[in-house]
Amino acid sequence: MFLCTNLLTAAIGISAFAAEASAALLPEKDDIPSLLYTRNEASNSSSSWPYGPFSTSGRDILNTKGEAVTFAGVNWPGSGESMVPEGLEWASIEDILNQVQSVGFNFIRLTYAIEMVDQIYERHGEDVGLEISMINALGYENGTKVTKEIIAKNPAFNKDTTRFEIWDHIASVALSKNIYIHPDVHVGKAQWCCNNTDGNAWFDDYNFPVANWKRGLQYVAHWASAHNNVVSMSLRNELRRAINETAPTETLGYNWVTLVGNYTAATDAIHSANPDLLVTWSGMQYDQDLSALIQGKNLNTAPCYKCDAIRDGLRRDPIVFDLASHPWANKVVYELHLYSMSENLDTGSCPIIFAELYAAGFNAIGMPPPPACNITKDCPTAARNTPVIISEFGAAQDVSLFNDTLMNCLQDFTLQNNVSWAMWSLAGSYRIRSGAQGVGDTWALGNYNWTGWNYPEGVEKWWKPWVSSMF
Ligand SMILES: *[C@@H]1O[C@H](CO)[C@@H](O)[C@H](O)[C@H]1NC(C)=O
Ligand SMILES: *[C@@H]1O[C@H](CO)[C@@H](O)[C@H](O)[C@H]1NC(C)=O
Ligand SMILES: *[C@@H]1O[C@H](CO)[C@@H](O)[C@H](O)[C@H]1NC(C)=O
Ligand SMILES: *[C@@H]1O[C@H](CO)[C@@H](O)[C@H](O)[C@H]1NC(C)=O
Ligand SMILES: *[C@@H]1O[C@H](CO)[C@@H](O)[C@H](O)[C@H]1NC(C)=O
Ligand SMILES: *[C@@H]1O[C@H](CO)[C@@H](O)[C@H](O)[C@H]1NC(C)=O
Ligand SMILES: *[C@@H]1O[C@H](CO)[C@@H](O)[C@H](O)[C@H]1NC(C)=O
Ligand SMILES: *[C@@H]1O[C@H](CO)[C@@H](O)[C@H](O)[C@H]1NC(C)=O
Ligand SMILES: *[C@@H]1O[C@H](CO)[C@@H](O)[C@H](O)[C@H]1NC(C)=O
Repeated sequence: MFLCTNLLTAAIGISAFAAEASAALLPEKDDIPSLLYTRNEASNSSSSWPYGPFSTSGRDILNTKGEAVTFAGVNWPGSGESMVPEGLEWASIEDILNQVQSVGFNFIRLTYAIEMVDQIYERHGEDVGLEISMINALGYENGTKVTKEIIAKNPAFNKDTTRFEIWDHIASVALSKNIYIHPDVHVGKAQWCCNNTDGNAWFDDYNFPVANWKRGLQYVAHWASAHNNVVSMSLRNELRRAINETAPTETLGYNWVTLVGNYTAATDAIHSANPDLLVTWSGMQYDQDLSALIQGKNLNTAPCYKCDAIRDGLRRDPIVFDLASHPWANKVVYELHLYSMSENLDTGSCPIIFAELYAAGFNAIGMPPPPACNITKDCPTAARNTPVIISEFGAAQDVSLFNDTLMNCLQDFTLQNNVSWAMWSLAGSYRIRSGAQGVGDTWALGNYNWTGWNYPEGVEKWWKPWVSSMF
């Protein structure tokens, strides 16, 4: 988001594994107690919902029955300083997920910070308890107060319940409601996301050490193996050019070659930890652009907005991303975002938006080129059909929703082309955001105190009909 401004089994598995793991080494699959890999027979993933593991075939995500699966859902923010999904001090996990389910959503993109895993390694395998996490983020007074409120609303927890135990609970309750949980790395250092100067922008930016990122992804991939409804996870949210105002030329190689090199290595890391998972790949410039990968362009020379040129790129051997050549060829799903604050894309007309989305990566779903391609003159075909989803977009949740151009265009686009999506966002209010505590969000579905919707009419007359038309 870019804006100015069987629970017990899994828990034991995680901490047993973590206690053994050396802080210096990535865990290998063989080091993980088999407990973590034993799926509960009662919820045998391949013979009951969600019929996982999932794989891709052309533009479709398929379950083990060979059925195409569509996601329609929400982002649930959890990457703020407290590193616990927002809202739990206002409502129980059950109540929040009932709200989610009442709209018909089947998908939650659960955002997190790699710092959460870094802290586990710093503590030699121990995750951080709820109260310590809240005090670190909110200070002693509000930290202890919010901890009490979370426990009051969620009596299964106590002040020592860890962040990943809270995730276990969320995933288990979501499973009971046939809702997928998709963990999404929003940031390295826990904080509000995203801007070019926040240190989380690009590989090896000051809050984005690549080794920690891959270690964090592997930890979450292991965690996912205890939860049948975690069928996918993301690599990284909204990559963007890192801007260091005191050293404006230090841009860390912001280009396609760096992107594909790091994504390939990270997908290898996830796949070795948990080969069942789908892995979503997001694009350049706040996840607006995947064109070079999808069109099979030479990554040394393919254009992209504000990228660092590889000046001798024409003389280098071409580098082309070939998904089919990787062991995870049928596990990658592309994800794109579009907001009205886009720096470079026109979000003012549906025909243009459709043509832009096509060029950015939706050509990979095999849709016909939209009519406005005769204006944009940039609608190449894809090298290969692959699933593409819209994992973030959003706008104010008030009467303006009904007449918001971009929102209506995206609705039309997903319905006409059967494209999965997740709106930004469920919260509500944030414990802490950009330094302020108790921050409400007019773009959220939920109201400040998570007792209902910000704009109930929008949920009834806009979101619900859209969701039900997707299935
Ligand atoms: C980006 O983050 C910096 C702090 O890292 C902040 O000072 C600045 O205002 C932010 N810019 C925007 C546009 O939000
Ligand atoms: C799970 O279901 C699959 C497909 O029905 C079956 O092959 C497998 O043996 C089952 N596993 C367990 C542990 O029940
Ligand atoms: C969209 O996908 C669903 C499967 O999730 C399928 O049932 C439906 O027929 C598809 N609709 C179109 C228009 O392709
Ligand atoms: C910006 O670049 C300067 C000069 O290389 C460096 O000393 C400083 O640490 C950088 N700042 C950040 C926040 O990365
Ligand atoms: C990942 O990104 C960093 C920072 O730009 C770069 O130095 C490194 O070469 C990249 N890794 C790969 C495998 O491409
Ligand atoms: C583009 O095609 C549309 C019909 O699909 C047509 O109405 C329009 O005039 C064309 N525009 C240009 C610039 O050719
Ligand atoms: C705003 O949206 C509503 C509901 O879709 C529609 O009836 C109305 O005509 C729209 N108003 C304008 C000014 O476009
Ligand atoms: C405690 O949280 C409230 C919002 O719930 C906020 O208004 C207040 O400033 C916070 N106190 C401190 C010391 O940050
Ligand atoms: C929750 O917020 C709504 C408005 O968003 C307000 O009407 C209601 O009184 C609040 N409830 C509580 C318990 O604070």
